[in-house]
Amino acid sequence: MASIAVIGYGVVGSGTVELFEKNKEAIRKKCGRDIEIKYILDLRDFPDSPYAEKFTKNFDDILKDPEVEVCAEVIGGVTYAYEYTKKLLSAGKSVVTSNKELVATHGAELLKIASENNVNYLFEASVGGGIPIVRPLNKCLAGNEIIQIAGILNGTTNFILTKMIREQLDFDSALKMAQELGYAEKDPTADVEGYDACRKICILGSLAYGKHIYPKYVHCSGISSITLDDVEYAENAGYAIKLIGNVKSVGDKVFAMVCPRLVSRTSLLAAVDDVYNAICVTCDGADDVLFYGKGAGKLPTASAVVGDIIDAVKHKGRALSISWDECYDEDYVVPYKSDAVSMFIRLKAENADELKPYLSELFGKLIHIERKGRPDDEIAFITPSYIEYDLDSKLEELSRYAIIKSKIRLL
Ligand code: HSE
Repeated sequence: MASIAVIGYGVVGSGTVELFEKNKEAIRKKCGRDIEIKYILDLRDFPDSPYAEKFTKNFDDILKDPEVEVCAEVIGGVTYAYEYTKKLLSAGKSVVTSNKELVATHGAELLKIASENNVNYLFEASVGGGIPIVRPLNKCLAGNEIIQIAGILNGTTNFILTKMIREQLDFDSALKMAQELGYAEKDPTADVEGYDACRKICILGSLAYGKHIYPKYVHCSGISSITLDDVEYAENAGYAIKLIGNVKSVGDKVFAMVCPRLVSRTSLLAAVDDVYNAICVTCDGADDVLFYGKGAGKLPTASAVVGDIIDAVKHKGRALSISWDECYDEDYVVPYKSDAVSMFIRLKAENADELKPYLSELFGKLIHIERKGRPDDEIAFITPSYIEYDLDSKLEELSRYAIIKSKIRLL
């Protein structure tokens, strides 16, 4: 009998228990032996739960029970989760998790502890919710050099942007809906400001390039300043605005960044709406490979957690080859402004159209964009591609004559 513990009974934890119990018989067959959830750890009381007898508030019940082989850490954060995970792995128990913050911050260390103890630390659920991406990247695409990974990695922001584009819903109402549907993190700042997507691109980049990419070195901006005007201009020019995380190799370093971008309507990523995520991996052999599915939510995320539980049970006593090295080079992530990029600009100036000749002189060939009812003091355009440092200098010059209201990079 393989005994499992679920640590945390929030959205993902309760989904994990629900999916596991629903498919228990099939899971038993896949594992090749009996399997049960023996403990659920949560500080709250759930007296009416059908699993009430499994609840404990004492972490040591799990740590000290030799029957527990695999623990699903789904509490999130980097305090208790970090301490518990280290203790469990050191005690010879595998840990599976949806905790992207913990993997992105301490992944290299935790993977090392797991390997030293012949157990597994698996985190398929930490990126892309129900989308299988960690294993394919680590195994199926292992024969390739990964040129770039770019994707929509946050369900909440994609849901909000879709509502803004399709239904002209304002930002706050769309965020409230996402929270009610269980997509958003407890503190939605992590979703809205891009930190959640940043953690995910760091995990994918660490896997792809073999060295830990720490979120603190990755430039990250979110969607809270995107306006319905920007959305309309983008639409009129044939683009959708999406929060994009991307990572690519630059010699022996990496470029990594999270920011809203204009994505051409001809790209598959532009068609990814609502809570769906999509991750495009570009490699030298397989070329472009696109992974698509529900990136957030109770059961999609539980699907990945339960898949990892099964894998951990099947590989008892054998550490799967999944790891990357610690990185001590603070310059491993190159400055984001060293990349070449085209930019969408919306500005305010008196009689803005009169600036057009000056803008052409400053930037070269521009694409001007219109919108219905565009006020006289507003103009919007897309610049040619420049190294972002150079683009900044041009914008600084421009700011002598106009107020830059929006700056959104193109993908
Ligand atoms: N809050 C996250 C999202 C959950 O919206 O994508 C899944 O990681």
